[in-house]
This record gives sequence, structure tokens and C-alpha cells, in this order.
Amino acid sequence: MDIAQALTVAHEASASVRGTTSPNPPVGAVILDAQGDLAGVGATAPPGGPHAEVAALATAGTRAIGGTAVVTLEPCNHYGRTGPCSKALVDAGINRVFYANQDPFPQAAGGAEFLKARGVETHFLNTPIRALTPWLAATRLGRPHVTLKFAATVDGFAAASDGSSQWITGEQARSFVHSDRSKRDAIVVGTGTALADNPSLTARTADGLYAHQPRRVVIGSREIPETSNLATSGFERYSGISEALKALWDTGCRDILIEGGPTLAASALQLGVVDQIQAYIAPALLGTGKSIITWPQSTTMDDIHRFETTSVVTLGNDVLMELTRKDQ
Ligand SMILES: NC(=O)c1ccc[n+]([C@@H]2O[C@H](COP(=O)([O-])OP(=O)(O)OC[C@H]3O[C@@H](n4cnc5c(N)ncnc54)[C@H](OP(=O)(O)O)[C@@H]3O)[C@@H](O)[C@H]2O)c1
Repeated sequence: MDIAQALTVAHEASASVRGTTSPNPPVGAVILDAQGDLAGVGATAPPGGPHAEVAALATAGTRAIGGTAVVTLEPCNHYGRTGPCSKALVDAGINRVFYANQDPFPQAAGGAEFLKARGVETHFLNTPIRALTPWLAATRLGRPHVTLKFAATVDGFAAASDGSSQWITGEQARSFVHSDRSKRDAIVVGTGTALADNPSLTARTADGLYAHQPRRVVIGSREIPETSNLATSGFERYSGISEALKALWDTGCRDILIEGGPTLAASALQLGVVDQIQAYIAPALLGTGKSIITWPQSTTMDDIHRFETTSVVTLGNDVLMELTRKDQ
């Protein structure tokens, strides 16, 4: 197996644990033996459990001696709840380490230097890993990475004039949303959505619930009825976006999804905290209704709010556009 193939496997391992590791990063690691054959794969366990490198080394056993590690993030170099991964790699007899991203976390960084100082050939691949992007951005920003998600008609409406919005998109797009929710630390809505839609904000499969459920968060001052789906399943309540972001960060959230509605979406954009947008666009027209954001973002093309399109996926009859902030 070559390094690029090993990185693909490590990337998949990263993606498989996204949502379950916060505040730690969802890292994937692969160990190749001295002949270059796959000897072990590991991913970050929930907090307190082994890091990806340690899990991969455990599967590789003595085949790690003289082998190569390929990791999605620079091996950590600090004693937290677990020992440093850089030392575990050296102790296991690894000769070469390839890592896709540098660790921006000051206490954990320095793994590459540690490895080099002990004669391990160390390479920084500088390759984006989708599963790690929110964690890396959150660590840099000191607040959770925020994705704003909405479903809209092609003419930009998130609800009809009678307030109904279920459903703008088809089944395939909606089931994709549930799978996406299962990878997030928290789902956030405003009281307007909580009252209008009575959402559960759970991550559901066709037969039940995903193993990982995000925290459910409501922003606003209005009362949520005790009989609502949110009240019966438990949710957190904050009076503003900044307060919510701080509390969520302090309690370990790194990757959150704001699911609207239009008032909350507009204020998050206004605050400048939207890092990514997921626009689920349905080939349907309303011509009137509730726009996807309630306030003007700019009145002239000179200061238009631009994002970069990072992916476009067709989901049944709908399209998911993923947009990233230009300064990311
Ligand atoms: N198509 C979609 O993707 C989608 C998604 C969600 C909702 N919707 C539709 O959108 C409609 C509801 O719209 P909406 O704009 O009323 O919903 P919303 O944005 O979920 O709720 C608005 C409320 O949230 C609170 N809020 C928003 N920003 C705030 C801030 N910065 N600080 C403090 N509180 C803040 C306020 O609550 P208080 O007034 O209680 O203080 C505000 O009245 C419904 O028709 C729903 O079906 C569509």
C-alpha cells in the first residue's frame, strides 16, 4: 500500500468517528509494516480513550517495528488524559511518519519535532481532511465551527407564507441531513423554528436513531411548551448566539449546525460566525414566503457577502451546495 492509499484509509477512519470525539479531534491513523503492507488502522476514541495512533499501533502489534505511520493530524506531544502519541510511535519502533495536518493546539503541538529529534523520518503532507476541518477551524477560532444549514426553494424561500416548510426537499436530502446531524456536536435552532415546526432535532435512521446524538439547543426568549418534542427529549436554552457559542465551546462542542430559521440565520451571518453554509436547494418555486434570511446582508454589490463553493452534490431531485467563508 502506498502513502496516498494509506492516507485514504486514515481519512475514512477519521470520518467514521466524527461527532464522537469532541473536544478531541477525529483523527485516523494507519500503520504499514516494514514491507509496506497494512498492519493496523485506528481512530480517536471518545474522550479519555486511546488516540488514533495508539489504537492503530495496538492492532499492528510487533508489525509496527520498522514500519510507517500515516496520520490525518500531527501526532500529539503532551500528557493529557492519555500519553503522547509521538512517544508511543517511537516506543513501537516506527521509522517513518506522514501526517496530513499540523496540530494547531499549542499544548499538543511539537509531535513532529519530537519524532525528528529521535531519528524518525517525518513528513508533513499538507492535505485537507474533511472530517478534521471543523475541529481545526474551531481550535484556531476559539469557538465552535458553525455550519448554517437551510432548505430552500430555487427562488430562495425557506417557508411558505403560511409558515409551513415541511417538506421543501425530498427524502434523500432529508436522510442526508440526519446522517450529517449524527456527526455534529450540537444542533441549534431559534424559538421561531422550535414553535413552528415542533422539531425533535435528533439524528434518525430509517429504523431508529443514530448511535451519536447531537446536543439540542434553542436560542431565544419565548417559552417552549412542555409537551413539545424538544421539551420531552431535553434541550439546552440560551438567550443569544454569542452566549450559546461560549457555553458550547466551554462544554466541549467544536462542530455545530445551525438549522435556522431565517431570523437566527440572519443574526449568525451578521455576527460573522458562519464558517460554512449547507444550502439544500429544491427545484421548486414559491414566489413568496419566508426568505432564507430575514435581514438584508448588504445593500450594494460592493459589500456583498461572498462564500466559496466547496462542493455540489445531487441528492435525489435536490442539490446540496456547500459554501465556505472566503477567509477560511
Ligand atoms: N427551510 C428551512 O431550512 C427552515 C429551517 C428552520 C425553520 N424554517 C421555517 O422558518 C420559520 C420560522 O422562522 P423564524 O425566523 O421565526 O425562526 P428562528 O430563526 O428559528 O427563530 C427566531 C427567534 O429566535 C430567536 N433569535 C434569533 N436570533 C437571535 C439572536 N441573535 N439572539 C437572541 N435570540 C434570537 C428569537 O427568539 P425570541 O423571540 O423567543 O426571543 C427569534 O424570534 C418557520 O416557518 C419554519 O418552518 C425553515
